[in-house]
This record gives sequence, C-alpha cells and structure tokens, in this order.
Amino acid sequence: MSRNFFGNLYWKIAATLLLLFVLVGCAYVFITADTVQKYFQEKNQRLNADLAAHVVQEVKPTYQQGKVDEASMDKIMHSMMAINPSIEVYLLDVDGNILNYVAPYKKIKLDKVALGPVHDFIETKGQQFIKGDDPRNPGVLKEFSAAPINEEDQLIGYVYVVLASEEYDIAAQDLIGNYIMRLGGKTMIITLLTALLIGLLAFWLITRYLNQIIKSVKRFKDGYLDERIPVKSSGELKTLAVTFNEMAEEIVSSMEKIKTAESLRRELVANVSHDLRTPLSVIHGYVETMLMKVESISSEQQKQYLEIILKSTERLKKLVGDLFELSRLEAHEITPKKEAFFITELVQDVSQKHKLIAENKNLTIVPVLNNNIPMVHADISLIERVLQNLMENAIKFSSDGGIITIETHNHGNNVEVKVTDTGRGISEDDIPLVFDRYYSLSASKDLKDHGSVSKSGVGLGLAIVKKILEIHNATIHLTSKLDKGSAFSFRLPVHQGY
Ligand SMILES: Nc1ncnc2c1ncn2[C@@H]1O[C@H](COP(=O)(O)OP(=O)(O)OP(=O)(O)O)[C@@H](O)[C@H]1O
Ligand SMILES: [Mg+2]
Repeated sequence: MSRNFFGNLYWKIAATLLLLFVLVGCAYVFITADTVQKYFQEKNQRLNADLAAHVVQEVKPTYQQGKVDEASMDKIMHSMMAINPSIEVYLLDVDGNILNYVAPYKKIKLDKVALGPVHDFIETKGQQFIKGDDPRNPGVLKEFSAAPINEEDQLIGYVYVVLASEEYDIAAQDLIGNYIMRLGGKTMIITLLTALLIGLLAFWLITRYLNQIIKSVKRFKDGYLDERIPVKSSGELKTLAVTFNEMAEEIVSSMEKIKTAESLRRELVANVSHDLRTPLSVIHGYVETMLMKVESISSEQQKQYLEIILKSTERLKKLVGDLFELSRLEAHEITPKKEAFFITELVQDVSQKHKLIAENKNLTIVPVLNNNIPMVHADISLIERVLQNLMENAIKFSSDGGIITIETHNHGNNVEVKVTDTGRGISEDDIPLVFDRYYSLSASKDLKDHGSVSKSGVGLGLAIVKKILEIHNATIHLTSKLDKGSAFSFRLPVHQGY
C-alpha cells in the first residue's frame, strides 16, 4: 500500500512538474514572440522615421485652392510603393482626413486618422516608439512615419506613412512565427529536459526518504518496537523523523510502565488474596474449634482463642484500611487539612503509642526532644500516619536489643523529622524500590512467621508515606546499610505565623 501511495505521489509530482514546465515554456515563447515583434516594430519605425519628411521634401506638394495637389502626390507615392511594398502612404489634411492614398488591392476603411500620435511623432522627431491608426484596419495600431506639409509657413496637411503594410505584416508574422517557434521550441525542450531531469531526481530522492520513513513506521506498527527512522536529511523531513523517533521512545516507555504496573497489579491481587486468606482462615479455624468444643474448652483457652481471632481481624482491618487509604490518596481524593501544630508533641505521642510493642521485642525507642523546634504547618493526622508507618517498620525490621531513634531538627524554614533504627537495613538495590506500591520484602525467610498473626505486610506502608508527603510537597529520604540499620527522614514547613 505504501509503495502504491508513494508510486502515485511520485508520478503525481512528476506530472505536475511537467505541466508546470510546459506552461512556463509556452509563456516564455509567447513573451519572446511579443518582445521580438515589438523590437522589429520599433526598429522599423526608427529606421524609417524620416520617410514621410523625405516624401514631403522630394515631392514638395503644391497648394492649389487651399488644397494639396493630389495629382503630384499620386505619382511619387506610387513609385515609392513600387520600391518598398512594406509601406502605405497617405495624404492627410490638417484635420487628419485622408485626401489621397496609395494602398494596393484593398479599399481603406477609415476616412480619418487620429492626429494625436501624429503630433507626438513630429514633436519627438520619431525618436519615441508611437503607434498610429491603420486606415485599412480600423482598431489596429501600427508603427508609422509622419511629416507636416507647409505652404509658405502655413500647415496644409500631413504625409502619413504606415510602415507595416498588410503585406509586410504577413511576411513578418510568418518569419517571426517561424523563428520564434524554432528558437522557443529548442529552448523549451532543452530547459524542459534539464529541469525535468533535476526535478525528477530531487523528487525521487525526497520520495525515497519518505518511503524509508513509511517503511519504518509500518515496521513499528507491526511490532518491531526498536525500529527507528534514520535521521539524515534536514528540514521538515528531519523534524518528522526525529518526532517519530521521540514518539516511538515515548510509546515504548509507556508500554513498559503499563507492563510494570500490570505485573504489580497481579502481584497485589496475589498478595492481597494471600494476606486476606491467612487471617480469615485463622479466624475460621478458631471459631470452628470453639464451636465444636464449646463445652470442653476452658475459659482460659477461650480467651486465648478470642485474642488470636481479634488480632486476625485487626490485621484484616489494617489491610483493607491501607488499601482503601492508598487508593484514595492516589486518586487525589484526600487533600491535606493543614494546621499549625508542634511536631515534637506528635513525635512523643507516636513514641509513646509504640513503646509497649517495642518493649515486647526488647527494642528501645529514643525520642530526641529538641526544645527549639517551631510549629509546623501540615495535616496532623496524615503526618501521624507517616510517623506510625515508619515506626511500625522500624519495629518490624529490628531485632532484639535494637534502638529506634526519632528526632527533630530545625532547618530554617523547615523542620526535619528522622526515624533511625539499628535493624536489618535495606540493600542498595532495594532502596529505590521500597516506596513502590506493593513492594514488600517481608516475605523473606527470617521474617516469615507461622503464628496466628502475620508480621508481614503487603508493602503499602511506605507507598502511603510517600504519597502523604507528596501531597505536602515534601519528599522522603532514605539511607540504609544492610545489617546496620536504616534512617528515614522528611521535612515539613515551619508555620509562618509562628
Ligand atoms: N526500617 C526498615 N528496615 C529495613 N527494611 C525496611 C524498613 N522499612 C521498610 N523496609 C523494607 O521495605 C519494604 C516495604 O515497606 P512497607 O512499609 O511499604 O511494607 P511492609 O512493611 O512490608 O508492609 P505494610 O507496611 O503494608 O504492612 C518492607 O517490606 C521492608 O523490606
Ligand atoms: Mg510497613
């Protein structure tokens, strides 16, 4: 199809070009013919400018009863016509009326010649190209020569010589036509051939590159995603090629993003269903046992079972809650309700809340309380969520004897909050990935627990942290070393009215 399209385009351009050249050629021939004709006419007039004056001088027309002696004129005019058949001689009175004339074969059709051009001619002594009436062809202007006839300083008429008689015109037309046609024809053929050759070659080169572009585009469409157009020309085609290549890069990277998102989504479904299934089956199992042994189990055991059930429901609640929160954050349904609050108080609160769980794991939480920390401007409950998630992680990924530090620092217009632990740390390769949604390394051997309540998560905690800070125009920083510990930090703006 593309070959057809470009085949057609090429021939269309070629035909247009040919037509254009033929038109230009015709215009050229026409203009040349017209110019040559004018050249001949002007030359003819200049050469014969004095002709009428000669006639007047030679003949010396005599004045008889206020009229020119027509008989004496007749003779000389006849002999002139015989020598030079290209002229027609007229005798005019002072008003331009034709008194006598020598024009063979045909009668004249005008009785009078316009005197305007005659006067102009006499005034400029024939040095300017002026055309006048042709008495044999009304409406047609011809080159002429004219001279006044004076009798004792009295103007009695004019001799008016049409320099291109009909016979002259026919002969000249023939010759001009013949010569011009030959000259024009030759020039046109040479110009046409050369221009056509160059034009066709140029268009062939352009369409060849276009063809290459089409081929690349088609290959890309057919699934060869690494296909790119070689950028070699300049101008519009280069822009086209570069733009296509950029577009192709964009498409490929978008496809990769979609693929990654898709695999993450699949992973989520697997993770979520696994994470939901575990506490659900725990609840199911213990409820079933309790029902079966309702009479035989001790109240001590009942309490233990109920506690396990409670923890499992808590886990379910957290999971569903996290998923819901993250999807709302990602859909921009949550906007921070910013207010001024003391971050140090919040830090203390969060430390206090996690103290017990930490102690159970033999971990120490050390809140570094700095007195000079100003109020910050942020959404207190969302920031609490951030600290909670960071604290949960620090506890979850630290082992016996670990220390968790939570500190605040004043940095001019910002307050930095930092949660440091001495836990298992994160490898360099994993650092950029931990904030991704559903990215969780918690399934690793050492953390897999077989108890009633799983310690592992689905990997939403840090994704939520990142999103919350994002809507506060803040970013989270992480430094970590495997087996040494991690430090998560972020900055919040100081409340300006403070
Ligand atoms: N303080 C930390 N020390 C070591 N590894 C960490 C720490 N915090 C996060 N990680 C790693 O980053 C991963 C992602 O953390 P995130 O909080 O997003 O998910 P999670 O804790 O596994 O699950 P969830 O928070 O949804 O319950 C964790 O699985 C863990 O491997
Ligand atoms: Mg977490």
